[in-house]
Parts: sequence; structure tokens; C-alpha cells
Amino acid sequence: MNKLRIAVQKSGRLNEDSMKILKDIGISIDNGKDQLKASARNFPVEVFYLRNGDIPQYLRDGVVDAAIIGENVLIEKGNDLEFIQRLGFSKCKVSIAVPKESKANSLKDLDGKRIATSYPETVKKYLKEYNIDAQLHIINGSVEIAPNIGLADGICDIVSSGSTLFKNGLKEVEVLLKSEAVLAVSPEISNERKAILEKIQFRIQSVLKGQN
Ligand code: PRP
Ligand code: MG
Repeated sequence: MNKLRIAVQKSGRLNEDSMKILKDIGISIDNGKDQLKASARNFPVEVFYLRNGDIPQYLRDGVVDAAIIGENVLIEKGNDLEFIQRLGFSKCKVSIAVPKESKANSLKDLDGKRIATSYPETVKKYLKEYNIDAQLHIINGSVEIAPNIGLADGICDIVSSGSTLFKNGLKEVEVLLKSEAVLAVSPEISNERKAILEKIQFRIQSVLKGQN
């Protein structure tokens, strides 16, 4: 049978809410996260559990037909890809932050300075737009520690509750973008699978309407 292959985050902030929305629209998935792939019992859907950062490439290649993914990841790694539905959860910001005693009050104030980030493409886009020249240090996690160890003058990372910034003595000075989970679609999706995806989207819209 022709099944829609949908990617969700394997572990991390989006995983739980992604599984919940599938459940809310009546798609029951059997397994735990130990398997990397699982089939729905009552709907022509296969769920693939993948690393966030890998999902854009899988979509591009048509290895998966759709994905529940953070808009921020799509902007960073999948600017060429489209999403068809905002999902209303995992809301966060991608922000510039500096040590709380710093005189910098915006991204512009980091001209000629060093910025640590896991979102190089996103930062580059804004640097270009503002015509700012800053040196990027790309790190994959624990970005907020960079100013404290003298690696950077500022950072660009995700801010959700703000607790990580606070704990590391940083203050948010500029919000580059706001993000939430979205339903993204592969450019390679077949018409038959698109029809399944449209059913899913319709059910999601009903659930989201009910929440408001
Ligand atoms: C993410 C992100 C921020 C933090 C933001 O890190 O990189 O550091 O969460 O959330 P908060 O504003 O609620 O504190 P995560 O804990 O996922 O770890 P990582 O950076 O090592 O990937
Ligand atoms: Mg972090």
C-alpha cells in the first residue's frame, strides 16, 4: 500500500508535541522511539524518527514526503523548502544575546565583533541585510557558554523560556525571527501521497481550531 512517509524529531523539544498532534488527529503509532521507523495502525502513514538537522535534506531528496519540523531549522537548512501548515507549538525565538554588562544593544552593535551560533546561515542573512561584518564561530550546542569563555562577544541561538540566557549571564538584545513547528512538504511528493497529506492537514486544522 502507498503510505505517506512523515519525519518527526527523534528526540528533543519537538518530539513529544509532534507525536501528540498525530495522536490528536487520530493516528495511532505503535512503537517507542527505539525503532527509527513505525507504521500507523489505522492510517496510511509511516513515521520516521530523525535528527532535526537532517530532515531538510531528506525532504529535498524525497526520502520522506513530509515532516514536522521547527520553522527555524527550515530557515537555517531548508530555505528552498515549503511548509503548508503552522502547528502552533514549540514556539521560540532566534535571538542575538550578549553578556548583561555589554554595551551592545542590537546586532548592529556587534559590527566587527565575534558571534557564536549554531545558526550560521540565519545570522549571515541578517548580517548581509544590515551590512554588518562580524566573525562567526559555529558551534553545535551550549552556545550560551561562548561569551563566558572568551570565545565570542555575542551569540545567536534559540530562546524559549529565556532560562539558558539568564543562567549564563546573557541578555537578549535582538529577535531575528520567531519560530514554531510547521508541517513541511517534499518537492518530490507524489500526487497519491499528497492526497494523504491533505487529509492530515485537514484534520490538523480541525484540531487547531478546536484549541482556540
Ligand atoms: C536549546 C537552545 C537554547 C535553549 C533555549 O538548547 O540551544 O540553548 O534550548 O531554551 P530556554 O530559553 O528555554 O532556556 P538545548 O537545551 O536544546 O541544548 P543544545 O543547545 O546543547 O542543543
Ligand atoms: Mg542550547
